[in-house]
Amino acid sequence: MTLRPLTARRPAGPLHGTIAVPGDKSISHRALMLGALAVGDTRISGLLEGEDVLRTAAAMRLLGASVARNGPGEWRVSGVGVGGLAEPADVLDMGNSGTAARLLAGVLASHPVFAVMTGDASLRGRPMGRVMEPLAQCGARFTARHGGRLPMAIEGATDALPLAYRLPVASAQVKSAVLFAGLNAPGETRVEEPQATRDHSERMLRHFGAAVAVEAHGAERVITLQGQPELQARDVVVPGDPSSAGFAVVAALLVPGSAVRIEGVGLNPLRTGLLATLREMGAALGIENEREAAGEPVGDLVVRAGALRAVDVPPERAPSMIDEYPILAVAAACARGTTRMRGLGELRVKESDRLAATAALLAVNGVAVEIEGDDLLVHGAGGPPPGGGLVLTHMDHRLAMSALVLGLATQAPVRVDDAGFVDTSFPGFAELMRGLGAAIA
Ligand code: S3P
Repeated sequence: MTLRPLTARRPAGPLHGTIAVPGDKSISHRALMLGALAVGDTRISGLLEGEDVLRTAAAMRLLGASVARNGPGEWRVSGVGVGGLAEPADVLDMGNSGTAARLLAGVLASHPVFAVMTGDASLRGRPMGRVMEPLAQCGARFTARHGGRLPMAIEGATDALPLAYRLPVASAQVKSAVLFAGLNAPGETRVEEPQATRDHSERMLRHFGAAVAVEAHGAERVITLQGQPELQARDVVVPGDPSSAGFAVVAALLVPGSAVRIEGVGLNPLRTGLLATLREMGAALGIENEREAAGEPVGDLVVRAGALRAVDVPPERAPSMIDEYPILAVAAACARGTTRMRGLGELRVKESDRLAATAALLAVNGVAVEIEGDDLLVHGAGGPPPGGGLVLTHMDHRLAMSALVLGLATQAPVRVDDAGFVDTSFPGFAELMRGLGAAIA
């Protein structure tokens, strides 16, 4: 595969303008999967047309749903109903996407089909045991490589049993896999989460007519789903991805004089940890035009550049900003003081070992950084860090984008070895940022 190196440097002037970021990745995967399990035609607008989501679209086709693109972001899924998926005639290749692999493993666990799943080198290195173990409870059988790695063979249960599971790690992917398996089991499936994680599955299941109850006990949540619902096709409007918006937000904060508006961003409270943290750091961040779309809160973000100060980010905030630590670390590198981000163990099993790779991204650009247990410490420069480094992105889209945003603020340009994986979640990233005035070439 050819590498796509990119370089970002400090632009001559501020970033300025109004943009919309591509659709939410989490919601896009779920819309395709639940659309395929519903009865009738689901129309999706604003679908993220990134590599990860296109893998899910291809998989749902192989499983018998009709999935058609009618225009940019406009898709139609003709579903087969819960329990109606067909055995795939070929291997399901989920590319770089952990969400696609784990959620689909859940769907397949309670369908009486045999399927083989694989992915790219990054995904083949990530743990699947965390879904294989709970999903086996419904009667499905899994065989995978050593350490629970893909490729993995799935023999779905013929008469699936309902599941009851307490999550050992805060993971919306594992929660969703269990709930999706429970769709084709009689009776009640129950998931307990010690810490609330993104609830897009719960919201969308309800949107499609399933009975989902959520009880909150302090930070804990208990989610119950009534099995074998007849899901009804629904229109889904996918909001802009707050994780993608995070890159433009931090860029606007760091390039002096910038003023940027990002329209139609998803503001699910279980996704907005980055915004809360940046505000604590002193960021001028406004939300306007708040509204709701397909059961999800949405609004416009208004960002103005300004100096940032270090903060201590508590571990309980991790689930609401789990994908945002690399870009927060970039903001922290320019802030005054030492930022400590606590409880980042889960970052070690993302598209790359993001804890180590984020530290390396900063260190190679002259930022003092330490890893202490599961904590990341960034000693901020209180202004533009040196830069000048070549960042290795390890097949990880978010590392690539974080490094490029850093390069907009550093004294010397920042290079990335390969920005090709940016297309998994944010196709058109460099062009969109250039439209705001960013110097990325
Ligand atoms: C996701 C959940 C998170 C997140 C991923 C998307 C989802 O993963 O990192 O990008 O859509 O459910 P975990 O649930 O494994 O933490």
